[in-house]
Amino acid sequence: MKIGILTSGGDCPGLNAVIRGAVLKGIKAYGHTFVGFRDGWRGVVDGEVLELPREKVRGISKQGGTILGTSRTNPFDGPNGGAHNIKMTLVSLGIDALIAIGGEGTLAAAQRLSQEGLKIVGVPKTVDNDLAATDYTFGFDTAVQIATEAIDRLRTTGESHHRCMVAEVMGRHAGWIALHAGMAAGAHAILIPEQPVSAAQIATWVQEAQRRGRAPLVVVAEGFIEQGQEAAHSGRGLDTFGRPRLGGIGEKLAPEIEARTGIETRATVLGHIQRGGVPSAFDRVLATRLGMAAVDSVAHNRWGTMVTLKGTSIESIDFDTALGSLKTVPQERWDEASLLFG
Ligand code: F6P
Repeated sequence: MKIGILTSGGDCPGLNAVIRGAVLKGIKAYGHTFVGFRDGWRGVVDGEVLELPREKVRGISKQGGTILGTSRTNPFDGPNGGAHNIKMTLVSLGIDALIAIGGEGTLAAAQRLSQEGLKIVGVPKTVDNDLAATDYTFGFDTAVQIATEAIDRLRTTGESHHRCMVAEVMGRHAGWIALHAGMAAGAHAILIPEQPVSAAQIATWVQEAQRRGRAPLVVVAEGFIEQGQEAAHSGRGLDTFGRPRLGGIGEKLAPEIEARTGIETRATVLGHIQRGGVPSAFDRVLATRLGMAAVDSVAHNRWGTMVTLKGTSIESIDFDTALGSLKTVPQERWDEASLLFG
């Protein structure tokens, strides 16, 4: 069988480990051959591929990014897009099946293409860790580690200047990175999309920390919605799937905190730093196992499914069951964390 692999949507550490796991198992266990599509769905739509022999994946599981490139291309857009055109392109390239590695946008597109007859298996990916069907997505552990290290650094400079430091981390719909990195770094307030909090409450937590002689540390997820606001802060237009590009809530909150508390406040947006660099050992192992399991799914004709982590086992689940519900931070995790605020 000839299998085409694509990585689509925002990148994250671990993508190359999935590719390696799939290619090695596919060759060793099933005798498959592999090609990679360049830049996600863009390469599928344009029929742009590169060969993926065993030598091509040698030593790549520790490399950040994706050797295939990625994009936020919608496969239903453009004159060559849509299920019918893509089917024709795959036939002309001799490709029998696709392994699509991506987040909610990519997997929703994969689900639709699979409903329209394409042979696709999905592998979930997102630093946000917000896919309900899987206990953890690879990339998350690395992002939390990077964010924690950065916040630890903000704390020392904050303490030197007696400032309040605001660290903005990723997290569009779910505050997992903020919750975990904030808890690991001992933040005095963690602000997440799931829990609206007033500016007055944030100021109270900041003042409580300062009264104990601490340099207050606030961790905010980009998707946080301040109490009284309708939506997350966004001033950067829409992405190709029509979703607002987030970012900047830290810069918005810092002057508000300063005005309410009189404490000099600085904001740092960690941004794409969280998605770059080498994956953690946990993410490499998870990603490798998911890649290997995706090839098993192909071998067993489990079209329209994706591989997931349940506890310590890798399982397979239908797109229809897997997609549509986000894994947000549950109330009890917020209650547990917020006891430590202030
Ligand atoms: O979905 C993962 C994510 O990193 C989000 O946290 C963030 O909102 C988005 O991607 C950023 O996308 P881009 O890299 O296209 O700016």
